[in-house]
Amino acid sequence: MHNMNKVKMIELPQAGDERGHLVIVEGGIDIPFEIKRAFYIYGSDRDVIRGQHANRKTEFVLINVAGTSKIKVKDGEGNEAIFCLNRPHTGVYLPTMVWKDMYDFSEDSVLLVLASEHYDSGEYIRDYKVFVEEIKKG
Ligand code: TYD
Repeated sequence: MHNMNKVKMIELPQAGDERGHLVIVEGGIDIPFEIKRAFYIYGSDRDVIRGQHANRKTEFVLINVAGTSKIKVKDGEGNEAIFCLNRPHTGVYLPTMVWKDMYDFSEDSVLLVLASEHYDSGEYIRDYKVFVEEIKKG
């Protein structure tokens, strides 16, 4: 199966009421892994491209909790998809071994990233050619 087929949008449960919105993200329940790490990205200009890497071990869910951005995903086998993150209750799930670019950040964008692993720079692939080679090897 292409890794692209594992990429999916996730609709998070909401429990808002007259006091305001509330969105729930439980590891292993609303998203398909236990959360070991969270980080968030804001203040990136619209012309900035972030990411530009693949991960050998880490799965992610990305949620624009404010503002908007786009995520381009490539599986290294010729398949590509673009996701517009524009709702605080919608995320995109990324499995291991997909190439990702985050771009087109709105000025108010706060992009929350939930990860299945602690940070380990050694499991990042930052060279697209190396990524394609590793996909070919399987
Ligand atoms: P980078 O991977 O370039 O961010 P992005 O994928 O969002 O574009 O990371 C930027 C810097 O932050 C880099 O020096 C590594 C460091 N970093 C950590 O130390 N821990 C983390 O969890 C992350 C995501 C990055």
